[in-house]
Amino acid sequence: MVSPVVSNGVYVILGASGNTGSIIANSLLSKGEKVRVMGRDPGRLQRFVGKGAEAFTADMSDAAALTNAFSGARAAYLMLPPAKSRKNQERESDAIAKAVKESGLLYAVHLSSYGAQVPEGTGPVAGLHSSEQKLNAISGLNVLHLRAAYFMENSLAAIGMIHWMGLLGNALLPDLKLPMIATRDVGNYAAQRLLHLDFSGKQTRELLGERDLSMTEATAVIARGIGHPDLRYEQFPYDQVQQVLTQMGIPPKGAALYIEMYKAINAGVLVPLEPRSPENTTPTSLENFVQDVFAAAYHGPAISA
Ligand SMILES: NC(=O)c1ccc[n+]([C@@H]2O[C@H](COP(=O)([O-])OP(=O)(O)OC[C@H]3O[C@@H](n4cnc5c(N)ncnc54)[C@H](OP(=O)(O)O)[C@@H]3O)[C@@H](O)[C@H]2O)c1
Repeated sequence: MVSPVVSNGVYVILGASGNTGSIIANSLLSKGEKVRVMGRDPGRLQRFVGKGAEAFTADMSDAAALTNAFSGARAAYLMLPPAKSRKNQERESDAIAKAVKESGLLYAVHLSSYGAQVPEGTGPVAGLHSSEQKLNAISGLNVLHLRAAYFMENSLAAIGMIHWMGLLGNALLPDLKLPMIATRDVGNYAAQRLLHLDFSGKQTRELLGERDLSMTEATAVIARGIGHPDLRYEQFPYDQVQQVLTQMGIPPKGAALYIEMYKAINAGVLVPLEPRSPENTTPTSLENFVQDVFAAAYHGPAISA
């Protein structure tokens, strides 16, 4: 099973073309590190190959391919793709854990979520709880679970609605404050920990963004940042949001999972464990995110096309 491995110093980055993986891959490459970028689409990995990375094309549920990818690596960034169903999440986390074990990988940073201490009833976050448990069961693995806050990038999905309906809506309570983080803060934090490998055993680190915001407050920040002062937040009924998610191409089981997550957030079940502190607070404010990312996407040609 676990054979002695000699590290060739390569970092393996799952989901390298994604929000967090791309930040990590670029950060490690800029430090001169050897990087193996993984994803299904070789075209989406080319920008890293151009900077010296090795592309590794595989599906996240292919344990044998992942075992090859991890073999001899210095460390890996592990993540599950956005959930299509709980069954799918289990298949992917099974494959990742099997590959970590069989390859004898010694260090991993694993993307999880705030609220992953709760085993069920939290939608996709329950799948991350399960993934944490599977990695924690691997003896000899040093793993750091990053329990990240609600991504600011989630707001990008509302751009069409703002253009067409003049409002920003989802299923979250208007005045409930929740931690929100820019994915670049998750990526930069993960890259630092991967560079230093300064963790051992099984550890978790909540990353709660710059501050907590309610959807009403977040919408006001977005309104100012895009020059749309009348923009307001509206809470939609769960069944309406589920329908919109399905129309956006999310499979029905995945959409149902997101509704379960919204309900868990609104009920106060999906919450951080720790009070805010310098250790779990990250630099990018929502104002910075709107200025650097949201406004460009809102005013960009892809949206108006
Ligand atoms: N949204 C939130 O508020 C939030 C908060 C905390 C944690 N999270 C967690 O963050 C994770 C998503 O992270 P992210 O935003 O950095 O990723 P992302 O931007 O959604 O990108 C997903 C990445 O995974 C790859 N991928 C997708 N399906 C794959 C498959 N079947 N096999 C191999 N690769 C696959 C994609 O590349 P290809 O398509 O090219 O294969 C892409 O690189 C999820 O686990 C989510 O639960 C989300």
